[in-house]
Parts: sequence; structure tokens; C-alpha cells
Amino acid sequence: QTVDWQPEDAQRGGFDHYMLKEINEQPAALDRAIKGRITDDKDVHLEEFPPGTFEDVGVVHLLACGTSYHAALYAQQILADRGIPAQVFSAGEYTTTPAPVTDDTLVVAVTQSGETADTLSSIRIAADRGARTLAVTNVIGSTAARVCDDALFIRAGPEIGVAATKTFSSQVAVLALLAERIAEDVTGAVDPDREALLAALTELPGHVEQTLNQSSAEALATQFINRDEQFFIGRGVGYPVALESALKFKEITYEHAEGFAAGELKHGPLALVTSDTTVFAVFTGRHDEKTLKNVEEVRSRGAPVVAIAAGTDHEIAEAADEFLSIPETHPVAAGLLANVQLQLVSYRVADLLGRSIDKPRNLAKSVTVE
Ligand code: G6P
Repeated sequence: QTVDWQPEDAQRGGFDHYMLKEINEQPAALDRAIKGRITDDKDVHLEEFPPGTFEDVGVVHLLACGTSYHAALYAQQILADRGIPAQVFSAGEYTTTPAPVTDDTLVVAVTQSGETADTLSSIRIAADRGARTLAVTNVIGSTAARVCDDALFIRAGPEIGVAATKTFSSQVAVLALLAERIAEDVTGAVDPDREALLAALTELPGHVEQTLNQSSAEALATQFINRDEQFFIGRGVGYPVALESALKFKEITYEHAEGFAAGELKHGPLALVTSDTTVFAVFTGRHDEKTLKNVEEVRSRGAPVVAIAAGTDHEIAEAADEFLSIPETHPVAAGLLANVQLQLVSYRVADLLGRSIDKPRNLAKSVTVE
């Protein structure tokens, strides 16, 4: 008699892969990420960073790799929205060409593991040049947490799947809270939009649960296999979501996928679009009318479009070939919900193709060489 299960199956909690388990853990992870950090009267309470902590900050530099780089781009959008100058650097590039820093530069290293070699090197360079450093990480006691002046933990819990899922969502939620703290400290004012954003973050775990329970990504997945390529487009926070979704798709399906700022399509990538290109378009509720124009551009070249948008938006549903619905919410939260739908798409396609989902070929969870 043979035993047809391994001890680690039990740890997968009945899911076929760690990745699917971790996708489904997002409501709980997000709950932990924001727990105690948003007060009842919609204020940000970061225990390690009381009001005033960042009043001397002039500019924020975000350093990261991979999925964390996309979370950093997301944070840059939130900071810019609040009037705070922020720049994002691919940590590997930063080690080659470090950006000038002054003593009012806050360097935020975004790293799930806290051990990525490029990110650690870039932190050391920035610190040597006099910048104040802060690690946003999942791992207490990690090198990044130790070498930075401060650390803010995302509390996502262990992530086993090489392709990051729940940690991206938790990074963005925590970075949004950090952005609010920085913006209030620097400007001395509370942005009128803050209450709505914090309310949306509070509702986010429930909204992710709803998205997971009602997703039609699985039913649609058969349409997305064996295509020439897949494009992901978005604008605002939809842009980092497009990049992250394309990365997820290529990591686990081994198929060609690219993410673009929706407005950039016409500046080159459109030349590649044929009826064999699937285009996933992310709508967050902000500047959707412009993204709709981009959808028309690709559909007129014969490409089928899958729109990810609030279920209440009938205009978008009608403009696309397929529709993945998310709850209506603040644009910053909408981007994360769209990302969850696209995580499910990548997962299902990879599963249909029989890929090694939890350990994709050639990839490592933590890259400790430069
Ligand atoms: C590796 C992983 C990615 C991850 C990146 C950055 O490439 O495969 O999933 O996003 O490292 O990792 P970090 O731990 O710094 O967030």
C-alpha cells in the first residue's frame, strides 16, 4: 500500500499549491497588516512612527526588486497623490548608478524577505551617503530590518510559493499607511481623500474575500492558453498592477507576458498586437475613460480584451470581450482587487499547462547574489 500524500500537503491546507493557499490567505494577511494601524476615527497609528516622525523628509526614494518593486511603484503613486515627491529605483540599477541623496531623503527599502542582495547593497550605498533608511519587510530579524535605521513589518506570515502574492497585497496596504503618515507629517495637513482611503483599506479584507469567492477567472482560463502573448495594461495604480500581473503570468506559466502603462501602448507595443494577443485591462475607477480608449485601440486590431473593473461599471463590461468583476471601492484598493483577479488568472493558466507553480524553473524565492 502506498501513501499518496506528503507531510507538506497538510501544510498546504487542502490546496493544490502553496501559491493558491497564499492567494486565499490574503484577507487574513491584510487584516493583520492593518490591525491596530487604522483608528476608529480614521487616523493612521503606526506604533513605531508617531506623528511628526517624518516632518523633516523632503523626498522619498523607494528601492526594491521584482514584485516588491511593483509595490514600491504603487506607493510612489499614493505619495505623489498626496503631494510628496517620490522616486522608485530598481535596486540592482541603484547599485550601478545611485541617485544623489541629501539629509532630507528618506530611503524606503521594500523587500519581503529582507535578504535580497541587490536591495541590501543599495540600502548600504544610500546609508553611506547619509540618507535615512527604513525597511518595509515581512521578516523580523532580517538583514534589511537590521541594517536600516527603522523597520515596518507587513505581517503577511510565511510565503512559500516563489511567486509573491499575499506579500504584495500586504506591502501595498502597509505602504499606503506609511504614505499617509509621511504626507501628514510633511504637509502638516490631512488630505481630504484620506478618510475614504482608510475606509477602503478597512473594507479590503472583506472585499478580497468576496473577489476570491466570486471570481470567474477559473472558468475563463482555458481561453488564455496557447496564445502568442498576453499584454496587461493600466494607468495610475493600475500600471504597477499591470506590471505585477505580467510578471506573475510569465513566472508561473512560462508564457510571454508584458505589462504597460496604458498610454504607452500606442508608442510601440501596439505594433505587436494581433488577434493572438490577449489584453488584460485594469480599471481602478480613475481615468477609466482613457483606458477605455486604449481598449478600443487593441480591439480594433482584433485582440480580445479582458477588463477587470467594478462590477457596477456596465460601460466597461460592454466594451470588453470578457469581464472580471471587483467590488466598488477607492481606486487604491481597486488596484489590489484587480491584482487578486489576475493572480487567479495566472494560477489557473499555469495549472492548466501543468507548470511547476510553487517552484518555477530558474527562479528562487530570495536572490542572495547580485
Ligand atoms: C525574487 C523572487 C520574487 C521577489 C524578488 C524580491 O526574485 O522570486 O518573487 O519579488 O526576489 O524579493 P524580496 O524578498 O526582496 O521582496
